[in-house]
Amino acid sequence: MMNKEEYVEKKPSYQYMRETVGKDENRLHFHLMPPTGWMNDPNGLCQFRGINHIYFQYTPFLAGWGTKLWGHYTTTDWIYFQEHDPFLFPDCDWDRDGVYSGSAFVAEDKIHYFYTGNVKLQDQEYDYILEGREQNTIHLTSIDGMQASKKQLLMTNTDYPTDMSKHVRDPKVFVQDGRYYMVQGARDRESKGCVLLFESEDLETWTYFDRIQPKEKFGYMWECPDLFELSGQKILMACPQGLEQEGHNYQNVYQCGWFPIEMDFKEKKYKLGEFHELDKGFDIYAAQTFLDEKGRRILIGWMGIPDAEYDNDATVDYEWIHALTMPRVLTFQNGKVIQAPLEEMKNLRKNKKATTIQSFGQWKTTDSCFELYIRREDACAEMELRLREDVTLIYRKQVFALKMGKSGHGRRSRTIQLESVRNVRVFSDTSAIEIFINDGEEVMTTRVYSEGLEQTVEFLDSATDGEVYVYDLGQFVIEDARTV
Ligand code: FRU
Repeated sequence: MMNKEEYVEKKPSYQYMRETVGKDENRLHFHLMPPTGWMNDPNGLCQFRGINHIYFQYTPFLAGWGTKLWGHYTTTDWIYFQEHDPFLFPDCDWDRDGVYSGSAFVAEDKIHYFYTGNVKLQDQEYDYILEGREQNTIHLTSIDGMQASKKQLLMTNTDYPTDMSKHVRDPKVFVQDGRYYMVQGARDRESKGCVLLFESEDLETWTYFDRIQPKEKFGYMWECPDLFELSGQKILMACPQGLEQEGHNYQNVYQCGWFPIEMDFKEKKYKLGEFHELDKGFDIYAAQTFLDEKGRRILIGWMGIPDAEYDNDATVDYEWIHALTMPRVLTFQNGKVIQAPLEEMKNLRKNKKATTIQSFGQWKTTDSCFELYIRREDACAEMELRLREDVTLIYRKQVFALKMGKSGHGRRSRTIQLESVRNVRVFSDTSAIEIFINDGEEVMTTRVYSEGLEQTVEFLDSATDGEVYVYDLGQFVIEDARTV
């Protein structure tokens, strides 16, 4: 539990965390991070009356796993941000062990929020899977994204199907043919992951509608589902846990990806297509999307992953951990979800350098914050590009690899089978790299800790020439707009 008053009381004694964070060279320049402490999933993403709201799982006073609040940033242009007071606190019996992940649904006059109130019973020993946990679905509204209304309990575990374990969470709401639907991630009692669907006419009374579950078990738990449409194609995003690695697939401990899905809401019938990982890098999870006022489907992911074998200790030493990915615009082309960096990121560009692969040479960067674009003449040719002393991108024998040495802090190699590599766009930030391949058909995201190492970009090998553009990138401006 931590209500707003307790937070306000505690805050002064954690002021030192802000000072420590400020000394860290790994603080990111164009990725959102926790001001102090821990961040995980993006929550409640929405645009309301011109303002984009980015809430997130947040423990302000601890750079580790703790009881979650919802932190809050806003922006109108994706370059200037404001940091606000935390929006939600674990302050009632329904959410006393964490205001867990959830979403926003914009209605005409207000924003509706749906989230999971986490409760961990401590009165005896439990397995915390079948017993010992409550996951309550809670609703509230706001007229401006800042002031939260009273919380309203919508559902408890007894409202979920009886064959569910206690793990049912992360509601996301959408509208279809004038009715509201909610997806929730779940683990059934046989430890098979699925998505539960609920329906409502008024956003307050919800009844169970159906479940989406492949015939064959596909992981033991699915977290953070999202259901939306791209160019007429319905997409179900979710984070399955418990998939075994199969060749180039599922190299991370947990996955974050999407299925194409055909849904007939009247007949309660659906056809689930094949699962695709959203991002084949090391650090991606719990992605959420929203439709902005321009009609863009924007995705932001957590640039981290639970229970990974690699670490982020370098920033923990400075009292913070984890970050969010850059916002990405989704489209659907040739059966694939395509991710493109948000157009507004171009406003960070400074000093353009245009050259060719053959004449690129060795380029030493000062703060390692740049955008690099390569368009290759022969898309099938092999190449090896060094981004930093021990971070390389290699395309050989139709396998694209991201390889990291010491600066990966345990991250070694991630690979994708690719018939050709037409172009590569790299966004390099102090301690994060996002790589968009073939105009965003594939993406690889990673954290990186290369302090003290040489920051040199160089083609070690390239069997084809091509154009290269490099831009130095500026920084987000984050204004402190907290009131308490
Ligand atoms: C995913 C997740 C969600 C949960 C939240 C808790 O990273 O485990 O399922 O709501 O994080 O912080």
